[in-house]
Amino acid sequence: MYPTVLFWWAVTLAHCTLAGNVCPKPPEVPFAKVDVNKIIYERGEEITYTCDPGYSHHSGLKKYVCPWSGKWPINTMRCIPKKCSYPGPLRNGGIDFIDLNYQSLVHFSCEPGYILNGIDTIQCMADGQWNATLPECQPVTCPLPSLPEFGVISYHKLSPGNVSVFQDKISFECLPSFALFGNETATCMANGNWSDIPTCKYVQCPHPATIENGFVNFAVRRTFSPCHSPYVLDGPRESRCEKTGSWSIKPTCKAPCKIPVSKATVLYNGRKIKVQNDLKEGILHAETLFFFCKNKEQKCGYSVPTQCIDGQLTVPACFKEIGLLQSIWKTDPAELAPCAAGVNSK
Ligand SMILES: *[C@@H]1O[C@H](CO)[C@@H](O)[C@H](O)[C@H]1NC(C)=O
Ligand SMILES: *[C@@H]1O[C@H](CO)[C@@H](O)[C@H](O)[C@H]1NC(C)=O
Ligand SMILES: *[C@@H]1O[C@H](CO)[C@@H](O)[C@H](O)[C@H]1NC(C)=O
Ligand SMILES: *[C@@H]1O[C@H](CO)[C@@H](O)[C@H](O)[C@H]1NC(C)=O
Repeated sequence: MYPTVLFWWAVTLAHCTLAGNVCPKPPEVPFAKVDVNKIIYERGEEITYTCDPGYSHHSGLKKYVCPWSGKWPINTMRCIPKKCSYPGPLRNGGIDFIDLNYQSLVHFSCEPGYILNGIDTIQCMADGQWNATLPECQPVTCPLPSLPEFGVISYHKLSPGNVSVFQDKISFECLPSFALFGNETATCMANGNWSDIPTCKYVQCPHPATIENGFVNFAVRRTFSPCHSPYVLDGPRESRCEKTGSWSIKPTCKAPCKIPVSKATVLYNGRKIKVQNDLKEGILHAETLFFFCKNKEQKCGYSVPTQCIDGQLTVPACFKEIGLLQSIWKTDPAELAPCAAGVNSK
């Protein structure tokens, strides 16, 4: 009988003791686990929190002991997600993400004209590393374009590996007598095609008309050679056979000018010379000559320019030719003291 009573007494006592002094399940900590998972914990029993994979300990205590009171102390433990490093930059492409935390996704894309070589999405793993390596944006390549008929390649930019890539250029020119229509330069486009390739068409110009007082030189590149002296060419020396089948220009030979006075001292090419001695042949088209006039009030001389335009030269109105007899007492205006600036035909 006694042993039975004693046993029940012992059990009851044990129960009372335990009821007041055990700890319940410990508080949950986000992204962390407790090493020993139980319903109740004995006084003095120690538990340790560990952050989940992909999270690291940020602050607070990890270890807690079930106290005599049976109430767990306030839990201060905090775990935060691990961060992966910025995976970029991606040349010729873009990177899209919200954050770089554990489990986050990063998306890659390429600019027009570039193709993604590699994976387009990577994920931050528990060890703080990305699950794959950064992809590359590789330029689109264009195959060799078809040559225009009667055309040749005049310039071709090749990229490493002897390929044409996005934005590379190729230029063409046509064989002699063929004119190029379209754009002489084509570009490798984002879709892997070349922009329009030009065409070469046969073009013939009529036999160039002869020019008055000159001749056409066909020997080299259909050149209009200088006019017969003393005619001078007005405009460029060369005329091109245009795509339209006509000549770019028809140059003309311009006539020289006779000086319409019999006697005068003039300024020509910076020198004072006598028309009757040195300019019997006149001057060439487009050349300029200065006549001297007299200012009677101030008794000084001034010069007035005049230009030869295709055989026409106008003598300034103020010029007075001095006759042979007058020259005995009249001074040539060219010999007078030059007038002060601003004094002229008054
Ligand atoms: C990396 O993660 C992304 C996104 O979850 C997935 O699509 C891809 O297949 C993974 N790559 C590798 C090499 O595991
Ligand atoms: C590229 O092409 C040229 C001529 O077509 C050739 O001489 C050269 O060896 C090539 N280079 C490479 C790297 O293939
Ligand atoms: C020719 O094409 C290039 C691109 O390939 C462009 O940049 C250029 O403006 C074009 N030229 C003309 C005259 O259209
Ligand atoms: C490239 O050019 C070819 C021939 O003109 C055409 O059939 C094809 O659709 C073009 N490709 C693209 C992507 O535009």
